[in-house]
Amino acid sequence: MILANARTVTLSMNKMAKDKTVYVCDHCGQESTKWLGKCPSCGQWGTMKEFHVQSEKPSSAVVRAAMQAAGAEGKRKNRPQPVSEIRANEEPRIDMMDGELNRVLGGGLVPGSLVLLGGEPGIGKSTLVLQTVLRLQNQRKILYVSGEESARQIKLRADRLSSTGEPTSLLILTETSLEEIFRHIGEIQPDLVIVDSIQTIQTETVDSSPGSLSQIRECAASLLKYAKTAGGVSIILIGHITKEGTLAGPKVLEHIVDTVLQFEGDQHYMYRILRGIKNRFGSTSELGIYEMRHDGLRQVTNPSELLLSDNREGLSGVAIASAIEGVRPFLIETQALVSTAAYGTAQRSTIGFEGKRLNMLLAVLEKRVGFKLAQKDVFLNIAGGLKVTDPALDLSVIAAVLSSNVDAPIEGNVCMAGEVGLSGEIRPVARIEQRIAEAQKLGFKRMLIPAHNLKGINPHDYKIELVPIKKVSEAVRELFG
Ligand code: TYD
Ligand code: MG
Repeated sequence: MILANARTVTLSMNKMAKDKTVYVCDHCGQESTKWLGKCPSCGQWGTMKEFHVQSEKPSSAVVRAAMQAAGAEGKRKNRPQPVSEIRANEEPRIDMMDGELNRVLGGGLVPGSLVLLGGEPGIGKSTLVLQTVLRLQNQRKILYVSGEESARQIKLRADRLSSTGEPTSLLILTETSLEEIFRHIGEIQPDLVIVDSIQTIQTETVDSSPGSLSQIRECAASLLKYAKTAGGVSIILIGHITKEGTLAGPKVLEHIVDTVLQFEGDQHYMYRILRGIKNRFGSTSELGIYEMRHDGLRQVTNPSELLLSDNREGLSGVAIASAIEGVRPFLIETQALVSTAAYGTAQRSTIGFEGKRLNMLLAVLEKRVGFKLAQKDVFLNIAGGLKVTDPALDLSVIAAVLSSNVDAPIEGNVCMAGEVGLSGEIRPVARIEQRIAEAQKLGFKRMLIPAHNLKGINPHDYKIELVPIKKVSEAVRELFG
């Protein structure tokens, strides 16, 4: 760290004449005039990276040239206008011809917006964008800029993806220089520009290597300026993030762009989840689910059916929860394994569920229901590689842990939803009707729900038997007799 610091100082001394050097946290985007070991805003160590700001704003020159070429500047002179004259009708949206993507975007792509699609390498970002633009190619003029793959590679992939005939009008440009890209944008005047990936693009105005923080920020800022001024051109940036979610880039980019979508999933599962992290034009609670196939990503419209395994009957340590992520309910399989700790301290490990919350639930079980789990290893897994934050999962976590602990399976046609409080009470959950309807649709016969939630609903409206629960101990009695 000290070494890096020394290097940065020498660098900035050499350039002091024309540059201002600032340090930007690549975790949260906090800026500082001097290097700091710990970011004062997010508290992360070693995340402050050097960033040169040049005195004469060179990026604007590049963008201006492109906009002039595009004839955009005259088209849209910016000036103050009375609020009464601003038209506030619905933002026009571009239909991406992909239900999942449209929903996560908040009803389609907004013309003139800058969207960042982030995700780990190899998760399927290029595939998602390419298959989308192939569907759109005959309606809009689309330029797909790739700094990652050769034109031939993209063509091979496009052939594999397009089930609906030849890719025809889509334009592919393999280029990494921002100035060149703007030159082509100026000539072609596309409606939609894809940049795959922002880490590979570099501008001459910043003399650091591609992928560095200053390059990424400068390039993104120029693209943003273009999107905002060039009358309705939307830009989709693809950005890689590492496992830790850092690396120079997307975290800092989040402040610049309008919409941040994250594509996540486990390389070993075929499910991919598209999540809105930030959206100036819609809600961020939306979720899109895809399945990676040999011929591209397929939309998953009924996730529950995919997430539940068929042969869970008779297995201990499995409980089904009716969860809601975004606005969609789906049934999720919670799996737990409880075994005697082999070494002194017991292990607690979770996949797809927050570890601290598991510890809290185990403490509730110990204190309120009298199960001794301190000497036991507890492993918890949400099936399908999903990450779930819905508190209604608590009850199924407790049920799965107990089921594994006493090695007694829970009946296959039973599911549940309920948040567990510190005193062992079952707290009500949001949108219970939707959860019940989804469970019923999938053929479940009984559902444990918080007693409080029974108030607003009529149990006779449902074919599924609803079992109201007030305390964890009641749930235990209900499930294990
Ligand atoms: P890719 O879109 O290149 O990922 P990213 O742009 O996020 O780095 O896709 C990576 C993986 O997807 C690759 O390992 C192969 C797999 N894949 C399929 O399974 N089916 C397909 O149709 C395509 C195009 C890729
Ligand atoms: Mg890619």
